[in-house]
This record gives sequence, structure tokens and C-alpha cells, in this order.
Amino acid sequence: MGRRDAGHHDATVGPLPLLRSVILQVSILFAALASQPGAVKADWWQLGLTNSISNSVDLTPAAHKDRCQNLEYLNDRQKELCTLNDKILPILGNGAKMAIDECQYQFRNSRWNCTSFPENSSVFGNVVSIRSRESSYLSAVSAASVAFAVTRACSKGELNECSCDNRVRQRKPRTWQWGGCSEDIRFGEKFSRDFLDVREDANTALGLMNLHNNEAGRRSIRSRMQRVCKCHGMSGSCSLRVCWRRLPPLRQVSEALYQSYEGASHVKFVERRRKKLRAVSPEMKKPNKTDLVFLDDSPDYCEKNETLSILGTRGRLCNRTSQGIDGCRLLCCGRGYQTRVREVEEKCKCKFVWCCNVVCDICRYKKEEHVCN
Ligand SMILES: *[C@@H]1O[C@H](CO)[C@@H](O)[C@H](O)[C@H]1NC(C)=O
Ligand SMILES: *[C@@H]1O[C@H](CO)[C@@H](O)[C@H](O)[C@H]1NC(C)=O
Ligand SMILES: *[C@@H]1O[C@H](CO)[C@@H](O)[C@H](O)[C@H]1NC(C)=O
Ligand SMILES: *[C@@H]1O[C@H](CO)[C@@H](O)[C@H](O)[C@H]1NC(C)=O
Ligand SMILES: *[C@@H]1O[C@H](CO)[C@@H](O)[C@H](O)[C@H]1NC(C)=O
Repeated sequence: MGRRDAGHHDATVGPLPLLRSVILQVSILFAALASQPGAVKADWWQLGLTNSISNSVDLTPAAHKDRCQNLEYLNDRQKELCTLNDKILPILGNGAKMAIDECQYQFRNSRWNCTSFPENSSVFGNVVSIRSRESSYLSAVSAASVAFAVTRACSKGELNECSCDNRVRQRKPRTWQWGGCSEDIRFGEKFSRDFLDVREDANTALGLMNLHNNEAGRRSIRSRMQRVCKCHGMSGSCSLRVCWRRLPPLRQVSEALYQSYEGASHVKFVERRRKKLRAVSPEMKKPNKTDLVFLDDSPDYCEKNETLSILGTRGRLCNRTSQGIDGCRLLCCGRGYQTRVREVEEKCKCKFVWCCNVVCDICRYKKEEHVCN
């Protein structure tokens, strides 16, 4: 009975107040975000943490505009871009989230594991205030992720401003034809440039470093665009091959960027006729456009440092047999490690029972884990 009453009530309220209440909730949420204290300048990665952005409902143009203007962690030009594209917020949110995920995946075994602090106004804390190799990775993977997210949204028809890339068709191959939807990486790159590069000042060392790394990130997607084809024609004949360009998996891009991170160039700021970045010493190779560049040495990620939001590596799991960065020797920074044995339960010896069940045993075994001191 109570249920029925509730249903009846809903029906009489109608959709308009519902929309209003959603808008109200959204504004309350953003008001809450805006009032967060913190000395650190809030940053756009926040977009990747705010769930309400991905679950957004269609707002009226005015509500959308308000929403963009209230996002404190965007600068004026970013707010403007947000206002101009009423479907862009969840897509940028997705880009930011992918950047965070890819960084955490690539750094999962490193001393700094791309720790994020979702509750704080600065997603990665104060480590990003150091113009280090790690910051250079974050810039590059972020610029790449934004380009990726926007390009994918274009080909899915989620944005009015873009769709598939028809310009590829101007080049006429002989043995196959362009068809299907080629993903428009140029649009995605341009958006990434407009949205992220506006934050940077090309007259400062930091600005030049970030601009360089952003561009390196975007190039690492462009240079990995794939061509995929499909056969048409009578079965197996493949008399007509239709091909289109597709984004590479983002994981492949974040992996390549991690390799660039490992070989990143240490640079310094020089002010001659033009301000630019140069390798710190003449023996070092001049960085090209796909190399990552950094200005400062990395801080010590071994020990906890609250000022820099570094957790340190105490308590991290390490690999006893690895000589690499995930090995106990390097990860624990020479402090040694403890070995503990954990009892693990797992499904095992699974059998298919006609029809249609899978029956498993539970196996218990002991698993050794090594933990940094
Ligand atoms: C990073 O390491 C800390 C401990 O230093 C751990 O609490 C956290 O879960 C790790 N984060 C990721 C994403 O692996
Ligand atoms: C840039 O330099 C790296 C080595 O640091 C090299 O692997 C890469 O091929 C170079 N890229 C271009 C476009 O020359
Ligand atoms: C944290 O790092 C800063 C900058 O490198 C350094 O000045 C400070 O002494 C460090 N704090 C601790 C507790 O190690
Ligand atoms: C998160 O923010 C709180 C309050 O502003 C601050 O005390 C804390 O140090 C911050 N944590 C990190 C890791 O930056
Ligand atoms: C530990 O490192 C060794 C050697 O690099 C590797 O073969 C092994 O798979 C690693 N173990 C785990 C649990 O990652």
C-alpha cells in the first residue's frame, strides 16, 4: 500500500521538478567542492574523481553554463571550452580518470606509485609541484588521455563538433578502400591542446616543460594509430577490403610513455633570443619532440614526506627475486623487508556439470609475501 502511494506521488510530481532537484543536487555538490580549503591550487584531474560528472543528466543550457563556471579547478579558458560544448564534461572526466588509472598502472611497482588523494583538492598532492621526471609523465599521459577520450567520443557520435575523420579518404590506396569510421585524432589532439596547454606560460621554465611533455604525449598516440580492415565480397574472396583508422589501446600509449619516462632528458631553461629548454650538459643528446623532459631531480620517494604528499615505501609489497625497481632491494631502499605467509583461498579444480553448472573446490594454499620495512 505504502509503495503504491509513493508511485502515485511520483507520477503527479512529473519530470520537471525531478530535473530541478537534480540540478539543485549538482549545484550543492559543486558548491561543496568550491569551498574546499587548501593551499595547493586545485587541479583539473578532479574531473576524473567526481562521479556526478559521468552520471550527468542533460542540463538546460543555463544550468550547464553555471556548472562550468562553478568548477573552481578549471581556469577561465577551460571554463569557456566547457561552456561551449555541453556534452564535454563527462568526456573530460573520463579522460582525467583514464590518465590517473594509466599512471597508477604503469607506476604500480615504483617507489612513487602515482598515489592519488581523492579527498584533497590536489589529486596527486604536492609531488606535482616538483618539476620532476614523474611530473613529466603525468603531463604526457594526461594530454594523451584527453586526446584519446575526445577522439573516441567523436567516433561514437557523442559530440556535435566532430565525428569520423573523412580527410583520410583523400589519400587513395590501390588495393583496398577507406570505409567505416576512421577516428579523428586530429580533433582530439586539438581539443587536448586547447584544454590543457592554455594552463601553461611559455615564458617560464615550467610552462615550457609542460608544453613539451603534453605534446610528446599526444604524439605518442598519433604515431600509433592503427589501420584495421574487413573483407567483403563472396565468402572468403575478399574482393573488397575496407579499412579505417583506429586509436591504439591507451595501455599501449601509457606503456610507451613509461619507456620515454625512463629515458627522459634532464633539461635547463635558457634565455637567449628565445626562451627554451636545453639538455643540462653538452654530452647529452638533444631531446626531440617525442622525448619527455624534466627540470628538477626527483625527491626522495623512500621515506614519508608529508609536505610533498609522499607516502614512502614502508609497507609496500616487493618481489624478492626481482633485480628491478619492484625488487625488495630497490623498492625497500635498503631497509630490508619482512616475509609473511598468508593463507589464500581460491576456487580450483572446476568441473562442468551437465547441464549447466560449474562446480569448483575451494583450495587453500600458503602464499609468501614480502613487505618493506
Ligand atoms: C601505493 O602505495 C601505497 C603505500 O605506499 C598504498 O597504500 C596504495 O594502495 C598504493 N596505490 C596503488 C594505486 O597501488
Ligand atoms: C627521439 O629520440 C628517441 C631516443 O631518445 C628515439 O627513440 C626516437 O626515435 C626519436 N624520435 C624522433 C622522432 O626522432
Ligand atoms: C620533504 O621534502 C622537502 C623538499 O625536498 C625537504 O625540504 C624536507 O626536509 C622533507 N621533509 C622530510 C620530513 O623529510
Ligand atoms: C589533504 O588535505 C588535508 C587538509 O587540507 C591536509 O592536511 C593533508 O596533508 C592533505 N594530504 C595530502 C596527501 O596532500
Ligand atoms: C618477481 O620477479 C621475477 C623476476 O623478475 C618474476 O619472474 C616474477 O614473476 C615476479 N613475481 C611476481 C609475483 O611478480
